[in-house]
Parts: sequence; C-alpha cells; structure tokens
Amino acid sequence: MIPAIGRTIDDLSTPAVLVDLDVLESNVGRMAARARDAGVRLRPHAKTHKCPEIARLQRAAGAWGLSVAKVGEAEVFADAGFDDLFVAFPVVGEDKGRRLLSLADRARLAVGTDSVEGARTLARPFRDVGRSLDVVLKVDVGYGRVGVLPEQALDLARRVGAVPGLHLRGVFTHAGHGYLADTRAGVEEVARLEGERLAAVSAELRAGGLPVEEVSVGSTPTAAAMRVSGVTECRPGNYVFHDASQVALGTCSVADCALTILATVVSVPGAGRAVLDAGSKTLSSDPLRPRPGGYGQVLGRASRVEKLSEEHGVLEVAEGEVFRVGERVRILPNHACAVANLHDCLVGVSGDRVEALLEVAARGKVR
Ligand SMILES: Cc1ncc(COP(=O)(O)O)c(C=O)c1O
Repeated sequence: MIPAIGRTIDDLSTPAVLVDLDVLESNVGRMAARARDAGVRLRPHAKTHKCPEIARLQRAAGAWGLSVAKVGEAEVFADAGFDDLFVAFPVVGEDKGRRLLSLADRARLAVGTDSVEGARTLARPFRDVGRSLDVVLKVDVGYGRVGVLPEQALDLARRVGAVPGLHLRGVFTHAGHGYLADTRAGVEEVARLEGERLAAVSAELRAGGLPVEEVSVGSTPTAAAMRVSGVTECRPGNYVFHDASQVALGTCSVADCALTILATVVSVPGAGRAVLDAGSKTLSSDPLRPRPGGYGQVLGRASRVEKLSEEHGVLEVAEGEVFRVGERVRILPNHACAVANLHDCLVGVSGDRVEALLEVAARGKVR
C-alpha cells in the first residue's frame, strides 16, 4: 500500500492502520513529562510500535534509551542508531549471547534474567573475549509470569552477579496484573505495590553488599509506580497509542487513543449484523481487558466487533444504528501493540490528512 501523502484517508485502501500524529505526540510528551516530574529515567518499551520513527519522537521528548522484548528488536533499533538498549526479557541461549556480543560493540546493552542457568548461556561468549554483559534481575511483584520472588531475589542476585562474563546492573519488574484490576483504585494499588516491592528488593540487595544501579518499573496502567521512592527508571510502552483496554481501565479517554483501524463494511447480510474487511489478521484476537467485551469498538458508535475470523470482523449492530456496504468505519482495537505487529506500516494522519508512512521495522522479530 502506498498512501498518497497529503491526500485524505478516503484514498487509502482498507484495512489500514491509522496513527493520529497529534495524539501520538501529545501522549509521548505527557509520559516524558511524568517521568521528568517523578525524577526517573524514561526507557519506553518499543515493542508497542516497533517503529524507529516513533522511537525518535520519544528520544526527542527526553527518553533515555529504549526497552525491547527480543534480541532481534534490539538489532533493528541499533541499526536505526539507538545506542542504549535494554532487552526486558529473560533471554536464554548461547546463540543469542553471541548476537548480543556483536550488538555490544555499538550499544550500551542490558538483558533481563531470572535464573543462573539462563544467564550463564549469555555469559559464555562475553567471558571468552574478556568482556561482560549487563544483566538486570527480573522480580515478580505479583503478576505470576516470569521473575524471581522478592524473598529469593538476594540469593539469586548474588549467584548471577558471581558468574564470570556478567555484571549485575539492577532489578526490574512488570506489573502486568494491573491489566486485570477491574477498578481504578485496584490499578493504583497494583502500581503502588509494584514500586514498593521492587524498591524493597533493591534495598535488600544493597544491604547485602550488591551494587544496584537501576530499579526499573513499567507498564502503562501502572506508570504511577515511577513515583515511588527508590525507583530510577520507568518502561511504559502502550501509552504512545493507548487502546480500548486502556480506556476500560481508566488510563485514558478515547480522545487519547492514537491508533485506529480504517475498515470497510463489506457485507450487511441480515438485521443486526454487518461485516468488515478487518478480522483477526488486522485487529488481532486479543481480548478486551480487564473484562472481555468484543474485539474492537466502532468509533463514534455503540456497535462493536463481536466475532472474528481471519479476514472478517462481524459487528453486532447496536439498536438504532445502520451500516451500509461500502461505508468506512474506524475501529478502536483492544490491544494496539498486537495490531502494530501485524502490519508492515502504519499510516500517520493529522485529522483526515495522510502525513506519513511509519515502517514497523521490528515487526515479527521474535528471535
Ligand atoms: C517487561 C515489560 N516491560 C514493560 C512493558 C510495557 O507495558 P505497557 O505496554 O503496559 O506499557 C511490557 C509490556 O508487555 C513488558 O512485558
């Protein structure tokens, strides 16, 4: 798809992923200001957009390096000139260690870990050439995904820090369970505990004689964790776009959502049903959080996508609404990060005017 820059979204072929550049810039600026006010470094998670262009905006607004999820994403951003990268994932494998070693020539690097066994696989290539890789210990503050429990963190930090070829930089966490809290107060409580538990672990490590340079929290709904004393870094990702889940969680309003999908109604086969040319390959099949509720909201209407197959998005038409074949609608997706990963490029718009093409350069870099 080659959109006509300077023309309107009516000229785009659908489905197309639109990013409102004005909303994007204001989201980027607001989170940068929150981090500045809290006195922490902002290291945005680039897995949300995977676009060097958007990462440049974040850097211009004051971001201090980037977080990524995979070594392959780190390689793309290093190629684009980003020289301070944290792979916020427990990377395991000597093949990855070798790729990290070659990345270390062009970027300040760190990698997450939650086991000595895993960390050793990365250490070998560094140790063999007399160098060391910075690792950051992942702590589980309640999400129950990866990470060492706080009470076992000191012991693991000592053992990881003693592996030749590794240097322990600090601790990090991700409170993904904030997405499951069904009240705003619940989200805020997760954020408070995220910051406090991680700060307590860092204090224990320091008391145990280990240097802790970085205490890194991060998710968009729980970004307030950055205000807890002792936290040094914050890694939100989704905030650049926001999505229907952030609206449902009370993180933002619909007006703060930058990413939408432009789709065409391709069939109105019966009363109460209209079908779009955007299915799971466009919208992803990620559920709405914190409670399930369809697969995308039609902007400005009450109807939403209730069923998905790969290329079809089936709207349950709300009472009083009418959809016509050929009509175009904009859909607010449940999870903007998953949508970006499904597309080669995002169309930057200002109002209805097409302004830019943003390449999703790190899409699909799962290794
Ligand atoms: C380890 C880690 N850090 C930071 C983030 C960013 O969180 P969010 O997208 O909610 O801002 C994520 C998201 O999945 C993550 O897994």
